[in-house]
Amino acid sequence: MSRLVIVSNRVADLRATTQTGGLAVGLADAVRERGGVWFGWNGERDGVTGGDLHVERIGRVDRVAAPLSAQDVSDYYLGYANSVLWPLFHYRLDLVDYRPAFFAGYRRVNETFARQLLPFLKPDDLIWVHDYHLIPLAGFLRRLGCRQRIGFFLHIPFPPPDLLAASPNHAELVEALLDYDVVGFQTRTDAGNLKLYLGEHASAVQLARNRFSLGERSVVIYRFPIGIDAAGFAAMAREADEDVQIDLMRRRALGRRQIIGIDRLDYSKGLPERMKAFGQLLAQHPELEKSVTFLQIAPPTREEVGAYADIRMELETLAGSINGRFSDFNWTPIRYIRRTVSRRKLAPLLRGSQVGFITPLRDGMNLVAKEYVAAQDPEDPGVLVLSKFAGAAEEMRQALIVNPYDVDGMARRLHRALTMPLKERQRRHAALLDHIARHDARAWLGAFLAALEARDPPRAGRARGRPLAAAEGTSRAPLG
Ligand code: G6P
Repeated sequence: MSRLVIVSNRVADLRATTQTGGLAVGLADAVRERGGVWFGWNGERDGVTGGDLHVERIGRVDRVAAPLSAQDVSDYYLGYANSVLWPLFHYRLDLVDYRPAFFAGYRRVNETFARQLLPFLKPDDLIWVHDYHLIPLAGFLRRLGCRQRIGFFLHIPFPPPDLLAASPNHAELVEALLDYDVVGFQTRTDAGNLKLYLGEHASAVQLARNRFSLGERSVVIYRFPIGIDAAGFAAMAREADEDVQIDLMRRRALGRRQIIGIDRLDYSKGLPERMKAFGQLLAQHPELEKSVTFLQIAPPTREEVGAYADIRMELETLAGSINGRFSDFNWTPIRYIRRTVSRRKLAPLLRGSQVGFITPLRDGMNLVAKEYVAAQDPEDPGVLVLSKFAGAAEEMRQALIVNPYDVDGMARRLHRALTMPLKERQRRHAALLDHIARHDARAWLGAFLAALEARDPPRAGRARGRPLAAAEGTSRAPLG
């Protein structure tokens, strides 16, 4: 079995267990099983880019943590990755802060990472690169002579061609994706968007339904929807946590139900619209007074980026205004927590909530939606209210699907969720649980690695094409 080399922006804690974990734990298991390397930024902001690596040997895995300078954290991480690609890929052109220095920093860091990773590689390694921070990595590795199979998985959405084309670097970005052997997306829509782009902007040739070539290279483009460790999460949700237990008993005694949302504090998550919908629900249904609360947990991230400071202000104002309007001395309708809560507590909190309210304006997948389902008691499950713009909605059709821009519609769906008969809740939950149990994290990992290992030749012969940068906006390739 080939070794596995994982590269992600932040290097994972390889000692983490399912108790702390999520997705990184599944990946860590895979790299431990096969042996290999996990390479990424050490998360600190005062190093020297290209400086000494911190290498830790854990079992058969080298955990390699690379330093970055303050300038590069600013240009690469806060700049190009999170002020250009993040908003652009979440369809928020209005929030893109494009600056040439950001793109230069992005390339510089990717090139440095490629150089630093090279000595750790063995000829038969499978290299798996994660997320939007590292799109150009394969290209730099190839230029250094790396011939190994390299796969890329995008955890976030991929925008339609017209949106992507608004970025001055769109051609380079897509060209960089074609340096991989396998490019994986969360949804059919995302994979379709890259295929559309290739058709509209590039002279890439479609060799088969999911295989394209440009010049000498050919790439497989697939959707691999990420799953969770459903059984592990369900077990964690059943574990008694004293604080959560007391809170639940108190709510039961008061006959109070709970709507829950858990997100990073990010403008893509639709948090203001969600709070407005809850406010609307209370305004339209005075009978719900004191019988329902909305718990929103939203730990802050990327606070140096202006758009994140703005969303935080907006949310705090809104929560204050809705609470001011509806609260009573013994009831606060919105409980808004801007701190990190451990997964040990999150899992039982999800189980103890009658509605999972997950309404991003755009999201790659949204694993909380899957975790909410896994956490429920199948005998008396809660209802998932899910945005149609979360990747998870492509699979989780038995949720109550909402348009996150339609505040009125969301308020109506919340009411429906709170009044749904037990039989219907059970039926919907059983179907959702069956899906997430079958399409779990292990299945996702296995499917991606199988595609990366498969060396089947393309069905049609390789065809030559011009580089995208030269071909922009000219030719059209046939698409299936
Ligand atoms: C999203 C991205 C991940 C990233 C995470 C946390 O889920 O897809 O790649 O690790 O956010 O973001 P941060 O900027 O705090 O690392």
